[in-house]
Amino acid sequence: MKITFEDKKLNQIKADCEIIVVIDKNFDHHWVRDGVDLKVLNFKGKANEIALILEKKRLYIGVESLSHDELREAAAFVARFLADKSFVSLKIGLYFKKEASEGVKALAEGFVLGFYNFQQYKTKPEKLFVEKVIISSEAFDGKFIDSKFLKKTLDDSLKIAGAVNFTRDIVNQIPADLTPLRLSVIAKELAKKNSLEVKVYGEEYLKKVGMNAILAVGKASPYPAQLIHLTYKTKKPKIKIALVGKGLTYDSGGLSLKSSPNMLTMKCDKSGASAVLGVMKAISEIGIEAEVHGVIGAVENMIGQHSFKPDDVLRAKNGKTIEVRNTDAEGRLVLADCLCYAEELKPDFIIDIATLTGACMVALGEYTIGVMGHSSELNKSIMQAGDESGELIAELPFNRFLKKLIKSEVADISNISSSSYGGAITAAIFLSEFISEKYKDKWIHLDIAGPAYKEIAWGYHPYGASGAGVRLLVEWIKSKVENDRLD
Ligand code: BES
Ligand code: ZN
Ligand code: ZN
Repeated sequence: MKITFEDKKLNQIKADCEIIVVIDKNFDHHWVRDGVDLKVLNFKGKANEIALILEKKRLYIGVESLSHDELREAAAFVARFLADKSFVSLKIGLYFKKEASEGVKALAEGFVLGFYNFQQYKTKPEKLFVEKVIISSEAFDGKFIDSKFLKKTLDDSLKIAGAVNFTRDIVNQIPADLTPLRLSVIAKELAKKNSLEVKVYGEEYLKKVGMNAILAVGKASPYPAQLIHLTYKTKKPKIKIALVGKGLTYDSGGLSLKSSPNMLTMKCDKSGASAVLGVMKAISEIGIEAEVHGVIGAVENMIGQHSFKPDDVLRAKNGKTIEVRNTDAEGRLVLADCLCYAEELKPDFIIDIATLTGACMVALGEYTIGVMGHSSELNKSIMQAGDESGELIAELPFNRFLKKLIKSEVADISNISSSSYGGAITAAIFLSEFISEKYKDKWIHLDIAGPAYKEIAWGYHPYGASGAGVRLLVEWIKSKVENDRLD
């Protein structure tokens, strides 16, 4: 599916169907010209309400305002509505609140994310007829916007949305196909295509460098654990960033086995790793003045005679010992080793991203990413990127009382809290034990357990994987590069 920009008035563009957005139930605009039909259809212009006037080949959709988030969602609802119709080309005018580039970005992302449909396991996949969407340079307010200024925005938005769909494709694949080794092959293929550096390490290396926590998690799996390290380099990097992704290709819970309902959908436990791959794809395609490292711990948490156990004590890469009290709190074990590895790369900032705790969903609801870290300034910068990108994000605060809850009588630290409250934060405090003092204010943890995967379509996301974190992180990296330029 292609999205292009045409320097023509909307009525000069040829297409099978025209899309018209009705803003705040206001029908008084020259693009809205089917009043009688809309009345017959009882179309009121409510948010995401759709009316298709078939004879005129015009489709109306309501929004409350032209905020980029509502526009993105409206485009996605149109895409979903047209999935089983046979229009090949669509046209739409340029809608935006303040800046045209924001409107183009929202429309492009909305269409690409909304048209996404994962059908790899269907023997008879449904055909999607829509092949192209044309955005006119004629704006809603009557002005014309020269496409020269919007071309780069459109291209970048398509690349970023494409990377989100790439991430969704990885997460949606089943654990029998998407093993740790397969994840490393995907990383290698991406590296080859997008000129990234790539290193993949197997269990022998992990043993050699003392990454015993990730090794323990993978002990009962027939698939060996992999450490994947991708690097994007540019001539004059303004900043060096390490992204660390949790790549549990399946999380059964291990010997602390999950219940059947909780185990279902745990193929999504590789969402952090998949988001890191998506970000690496996006930044290498749009080009960015940053050096970015993507570090992924890929492993499967299973049960068997070789399982690691509650009562085990593990020595992580930085030498700290961990008492395992619950094998289902495995993501933090994998990240512990990977964070130590990332720190050795001497980046300016480290961000980890993981489907880490059900507790984060309890705290924030299932649509919001949790951000945790020691620097409120850094937390703020990522919340800002949340606003810009449209991904929901909220901060969960550390405190000294919660810190005491992960003390261990046998080892340096326990992998679970002694309290059943505040689990998202105690998990982050655990991770912080694997960040050295000098990096404490340069690290952020993102818990995407809520928004990464859902068995129902929501907003501009389909059933299944959402690609959570990709747009957020690309936006944050871009903003960091921009800010450095101002310094
Ligand atoms: N992968 C899960 C967290 C998760 C839950 C992701 C729901 C996506 C949706 C993680 O490994 C886990 O099992 N965490 C436990 C921690 C507990 C044992 C302290 C949890 O959240 O219950
Ligand atoms: Zn788990
Ligand atoms: Zn997990």
